[in-house]
Amino acid sequence: MTEKRSEASSPRSYQGYHRPVSGVEDPELTHVERGTPCGEYMRRYWQPVAMESEVGDLPVLVRILAEDLVLFRDGSGRYGLLHRHCSHRGASLEYGIVADRGLICCYHGWQYDVDGTLIRAGSEPLDSPICKNVVQGAYPVEAVDGIVFAYMGPPEERPPLPRFDTQNMADTESEAFSITTPCNWLQVYENTQDPIHVLHLHARSSGVQFGAASGVDQVIEYRDTPLGMINIQTRHVGDHVWTRTTDSILPNCNQTGAIFEEAEKPKFFRRVSILRWMVPVDSVTTRTIGWRYFNADLDPKGLEDRSQVGKEMIDFIGQTGDERSYEESQRQPGDYEAQVSQRSIAVHQLEHLASSDTGVARLRRLVRNQIRSVADGQPAQQPQWTQGDAIATYCQDTVWPWRAGKLDEEAERDVMRELGRVVANTVVETANQRHSERVAALKSVCESAGT
Ligand code: FES
Ligand SMILES: [Fe+2]
Repeated sequence: MTEKRSEASSPRSYQGYHRPVSGVEDPELTHVERGTPCGEYMRRYWQPVAMESEVGDLPVLVRILAEDLVLFRDGSGRYGLLHRHCSHRGASLEYGIVADRGLICCYHGWQYDVDGTLIRAGSEPLDSPICKNVVQGAYPVEAVDGIVFAYMGPPEERPPLPRFDTQNMADTESEAFSITTPCNWLQVYENTQDPIHVLHLHARSSGVQFGAASGVDQVIEYRDTPLGMINIQTRHVGDHVWTRTTDSILPNCNQTGAIFEEAEKPKFFRRVSILRWMVPVDSVTTRTIGWRYFNADLDPKGLEDRSQVGKEMIDFIGQTGDERSYEESQRQPGDYEAQVSQRSIAVHQLEHLASSDTGVARLRRLVRNQIRSVADGQPAQQPQWTQGDAIATYCQDTVWPWRAGKLDEEAERDVMRELGRVVANTVVETANQRHSERVAALKSVCESAGT
């Protein structure tokens, strides 16, 4: 009895009744409908809307940024992305007939071109003025290497479709994929600037889910880049030291290094295993669409499986909701379980951010600043084409022999921190250089560094 009384009298014990169970979410960062600050910001950038493999001879219903749309490829091979409801009397164009030119609504035969112009209004006279007066909502579409992108913002602000320096690398093959996550886009996106979760979720909580080296504790720092930010993770793994930089490319694009990296041999500026966009379907659903990259250097243990990459599939654990039983997902939770269980829209007001959330806080700040800038009428900050035909990016892995000998823990972390900074600075400073020059620069700074 005495013990129970003392627990009850402690101000921190059994406070359920007094703790909040709900709070205000952060709509400025999370709501994506047209006319919302974040929705308008997102609409200033090309967004992936589907994989090309999804578009056959029938129109495809897609939902992006809380808009219901119909994607199709007409008989001339052109993609179109139209508002779902026909401008005549609202029938859904998902039941439309794909024509040589555009799409014909099933109900009364109104025919729309891929740009939304009304070519023919069913049984109305060919010279009917209605064809000049009615326009179906349409968005420009471009397809690249298996992914269909659309631009849903004001036409006069349309930027060129980005092309990053990691696309079409000479020694690398790509496979498009998409994964749906039933929660807000930001919690999927900010997971990539939360590197400490790799140690906890993917190693300690669930056993090693990716490369064993990723379960080694790391020194983490962050810095801005011309595209957004990177985190800098440096680990001492066996005889080597490994620095990974992970890109957040605003507003919602991420690149990640080798999923199964083991840091067992030197490598310099090894590029990415994933380039992906966390696309808001609406404010409570996210569809991650991107490319998974393959080459032998990214996969030293032969653990990748290209046959498991595609629609609602990726070849590493814990990314989808239906791959395992509930019990399995409780015993070995992955990113999917962690992110979805943060609520449909994570309630920032109920969080208690700590020092290890520096990256999450920084990313939110960057996104918020851009949202406010667009809301103030400024043009959205678009990526610069630093390499002529491509936009330089900053995600990579560099592995180098550990030469600092045996040190106490604090001194060892100092060495790792310093090497991480040197690697990250070099990665950013060589943005205008060719790939081979960036590799050589990384090699050079590792050779002259203290480790
Ligand atoms: S509703 Fe589409 S043509 Fe009538
Ligand atoms: Fe993760």
